[in-house]
Amino acid sequence: MNALSTEEIRQRIDALGPWFHNLDLHGVPTAPSHFLGDYPQVKWRRFSDVVPKSLKGKKVLDIGCNAGFYAMEMKRRGADRVLGLDSRDEYLAQARFAAEVNDLDIEFRNLSVYELGSLRESFDLVIFMGVLYHLRHPLLALDLIYEHVARDLMLFQSMQRGSDRAGKFDQDYNFWSTDQFDSDEFPKMHFIEHRYADDPTNWWIPNRSCTEAMLRSAGFAIAAHPESEVYLCRRCKRPHPDEAYVVRRGEG
Ligand SMILES: C[S@@+](CC[C@H](N)C(=O)[O-])C[C@H]1O[C@@H](n2cnc3c(N)ncnc32)[C@H](O)[C@@H]1O
Repeated sequence: MNALSTEEIRQRIDALGPWFHNLDLHGVPTAPSHFLGDYPQVKWRRFSDVVPKSLKGKKVLDIGCNAGFYAMEMKRRGADRVLGLDSRDEYLAQARFAAEVNDLDIEFRNLSVYELGSLRESFDLVIFMGVLYHLRHPLLALDLIYEHVARDLMLFQSMQRGSDRAGKFDQDYNFWSTDQFDSDEFPKMHFIEHRYADDPTNWWIPNRSCTEAMLRSAGFAIAAHPESEVYLCRRCKRPHPDEAYVVRRGEG
């Protein structure tokens, strides 16, 4: 694959487009006019320090991998096995081409986050970046990740809107207490019935308190928050009794 000329790489990039990830494939950019700039490289630079420098001996799962930017970075950090999942074949085709050009051994598979139970495999690091708000059932996705694939770390990102302050709230409120719901900081999820940013797959956008509460509630302790939207989490004991969760290992 490295024998491809620059012109051949450019032609394949054009044929596989449009691209969401701007990757540099032997000097040819895949999405040079991205509305967020050199994305996701500009974002990665802001939090790459919190990810272990060496992933030697580790297994990594990238859920919603798109064109494979994070999957490839993890392979470059020495991960033994990297599996990238996405629900759209056109993105997987981009990821396979990019990994081939970069000579990186990564498996890419079409699988939805809702189908994680069928993998029957767990991973030292799960990457779940930029997918939560595209889901109609975001908390279910976190529960499935916890139950079926997360063994230790999860690198997580969500678009957030509303207050960016993490509020402190009581463990319980009586039935007549309603003021907390008027606080901007109370965990809130914004439901998008139609479109946001002209994207009909943007369904739920949390505020910061909501993101953090959902992570904790699903059994992920926040170990680092290097960037407003990004969290490094560690799988821990879930805070609720088992009966509170409908998703159990073995049901997938
Ligand atoms: C905004 S992109 C994020 C890509 C990448 N993770 C990143 O952070 O740059 C969202 C990706 O999630 C994928 N996706 C959406 N719903 C999914 C689902 N149910 N299961 C797996 N992937 C999904 C989309 O196809 C898309 O590639």
